[in-house]
Amino acid sequence: MRDGAANPTGQPRRVLVTGGAGFIGSHLVERLLARGDSVVVVDDLSTGTRANLPISDRALTFIEADLREWLRPASRVEEEFHEIYHMAAAVGVELVISDPIGSIETNTEQTSALLRYAADGSFGRPAVLIASSSEVYGKSERVPFHEDDDVVYGPTTATRWSYACSKALDEYLALAHHRAEAGAGGFGVVVARLFNTVGPRQVGRYGMVLPRFVIAALAGEPLRVFGDGEQVRCFCDVRDVSRALIDLVGTPTAHGRIYNVGSEEAISIADLARTVVDVLGSSSDIEFVPYDKAYGPGFEDLRRRVPHLGRLRQAIDFEPEHELKSTILAVAEGMGAAGAAR
Ligand SMILES: NC(=O)c1ccc[n+]([C@@H]2O[C@H](COP(=O)([O-])OP(=O)(O)OC[C@H]3O[C@@H](n4cnc5c(N)ncnc54)[C@H](O)[C@@H]3O)[C@@H](O)[C@H]2O)c1
Repeated sequence: MRDGAANPTGQPRRVLVTGGAGFIGSHLVERLLARGDSVVVVDDLSTGTRANLPISDRALTFIEADLREWLRPASRVEEEFHEIYHMAAAVGVELVISDPIGSIETNTEQTSALLRYAADGSFGRPAVLIASSSEVYGKSERVPFHEDDDVVYGPTTATRWSYACSKALDEYLALAHHRAEAGAGGFGVVVARLFNTVGPRQVGRYGMVLPRFVIAALAGEPLRVFGDGEQVRCFCDVRDVSRALIDLVGTPTAHGRIYNVGSEEAISIADLARTVVDVLGSSSDIEFVPYDKAYGPGFEDLRRRVPHLGRLRQAIDFEPEHELKSTILAVAEGMGAAGAAR
């Protein structure tokens, strides 16, 4: 386990984590604090929560603010950061479908403002990680997905593709800034295309599948699988993902590039439901719900979403350490009820 490059100054690194009170952001914060960094979190708590953070840790500064507001010159704290992890976003298909305007604006405006902030130069020359998503591949059927593959989207009348497009725009901005700034001795940007990330602190209310299944299994209620359940995904534990993100930022040769981050272990959603029931010893049934009932008419889902991880392995020697079954148990434990369910 490397957790980024060594810090040559011997001083604590100053690190900004946007969206640090969220699911993945809070695991990053935990790891950065354990590394000895001084961490600033900016989060509006729209989907994250203070309870995800060790608020009493003196190396952590928590700022509750909309990132776009905080980044305005009049309100931001003018300080130097060595690393920036941009995790703040509107996340999840359900959230994007229920509030498309807010989601598109949140995702693109924040990233644009953050990259301009990093490019300013008055606040040091940070290494910046932009969290993107496997959604960027759209409905491409060429699996496993390679970072330089073509992307394929549905029509703009289908709201679900707006998330993919907003993340793709973030990537264009990130790479353009990298090209513009890196040569001028500016900052380095790395883009992480995250595949399904799972683990403790993820919540089910925005449509994330594993916490929904675990909650249902613990309550003895049916696990609701959308469609025929044969759609295939790869789930990676958030503790592996957060380690990979820190290592990517700490690897200057990785900057200016896009990396798939996730697991190559493929599982159908129906099998995921069966595994959750089995691992938690639940008596729940599995119920299949047509897509149009779950998301409204015309919803398009993807049959297989599997990353190619060759580039990531080459850059940071990445192998996930946590198996899906142990992650399911950790998720249940995080919900405070695994003892009863096991
Ligand atoms: N969880 C996954 O499986 C997954 C998959 C692909 C990509 N990602 C990406 O990873 C990142 C983190 O996702 P997550 O799963 O931790 O989601 P999350 O919702 O738990 O975290 C997002 C955080 O951003 C904050 N936020 C949102 N808008 C904000 C704003 N305007 N100002 C300040 N804070 C704001 C939220 O309060 C929340 O704490 C996102 O960029 C997401 O697109 C996640």
